[in-house]
Amino acid sequence: MTGKAIITGGAGFIGSHLAARLKAQGLELTLIDNLSTGSRNNVADLLDDRCELIHADASEAVADPDLWDGVGQVYHLAAAVGVQRVIDDPAAMVHNNVEQTSSVLEAARLAGASVLIASSSEVYGKCPVLPLREDMDLVYGPTTASRWAYGLTKAIDEHLAIDMHRRHGLRVVIARLFNTIGPRQVGHYGMVVPRFVERAVAGKTIDVYGDGTQTRAFCDVRDITRAMTELMAKDDCFGRVFNLGSEQRVTINELADRIIELAGGTAGKRLVSYEKAFGPDFEDPAHRLPDTTRLTEAIGFQPEISLDQTLTELIGLRREYVAGAEASVGGSG
Ligand SMILES: NC(=O)c1ccc[n+]([C@@H]2O[C@H](COP(=O)([O-])OP(=O)(O)OC[C@H]3O[C@@H](n4cnc5c(N)ncnc54)[C@H](O)[C@@H]3O)[C@@H](O)[C@H]2O)c1
Repeated sequence: MTGKAIITGGAGFIGSHLAARLKAQGLELTLIDNLSTGSRNNVADLLDDRCELIHADASEAVADPDLWDGVGQVYHLAAAVGVQRVIDDPAAMVHNNVEQTSSVLEAARLAGASVLIASSSEVYGKCPVLPLREDMDLVYGPTTASRWAYGLTKAIDEHLAIDMHRRHGLRVVIARLFNTIGPRQVGHYGMVVPRFVERAVAGKTIDVYGDGTQTRAFCDVRDITRAMTELMAKDDCFGRVFNLGSEQRVTINELADRIIELAGGTAGKRLVSYEKAFGPDFEDPAHRLPDTTRLTEAIGFQPEISLDQTLTELIGLRREYVAGAEASVGGSG
């Protein structure tokens, strides 16, 4: 493949994997990232004369018409992400997510580029029916419970994108990502797998929120980014919404047990109430599982990397990181 693509949020967890994939396919890349949760280190190996990183807000960078010269595709991933960040500053998250998306859509329309919007399973809110299908009604809690704000911003992003498609013919596909895991994901903002892996490798107690019977379906980031690029390659996917994820779900208790076992079995586990972890108004959907029929019909998608494979890799990487950090402390002393 030749041509140019833009990835907003390109120095983030998923953006960095997407960048590696698109670059390997022969595309020239511009990554735009304000480095709020992303990091230059995530993409340091990719940066050269065919892949540049612009350190800026996406809305600011995409306003430069020169940026779009020869660009055929934009993957819009820039967003304030993570339950903890949403609770800490919901207003900043709402402004950030909606403003970035609206600017990216408008700039892509002017440039005639195709767009993929990274939406989220959070759009479903606490919809009680499983598995979750793209055409279902969305169910949110009250606006006094800030955690729903994130899903609402993603739903607004989707409305903006669909309107751009209907009114202006923008070639835009909406990818509702479910729990995505893999190397370079960080645990500071409430992401469960990196948080558990960090504790298990350190032999420390893992905090499981609630009673641990809640379920989630995890999918490896390399499967997710493959699906993203394949959706963008098919004309009949534009103007549509797709769930992206795995249909294999686990309870969070099972997840913790599996990570402890794969890490050698020395860590412990305890239950911590949601109230203690996130404050009094916090609600979490008990179960979340995608129906991926639409995705499979569109691109023949099946995840290729199992949960155990990803967890084993993450534990290995964490061990390497800890050993490296210990060696550098030892070396400097
Ligand atoms: N990881 C998941 O399980 C998951 C699930 C559903 C949806 N998503 C979506 O996928 C996308 C990528 O998420 P991620 O998990 O890689 O998180 P991430 O935090 O690693 O990536 C987001 C990136 O966007 C950047 N960013 C934030 N605001 C920006 C702005 N105004 N301008 C430029 N850059 C900005 C951050 O610095 C970061 O690099 C997000 O849109 C997120 O909502 C992720």
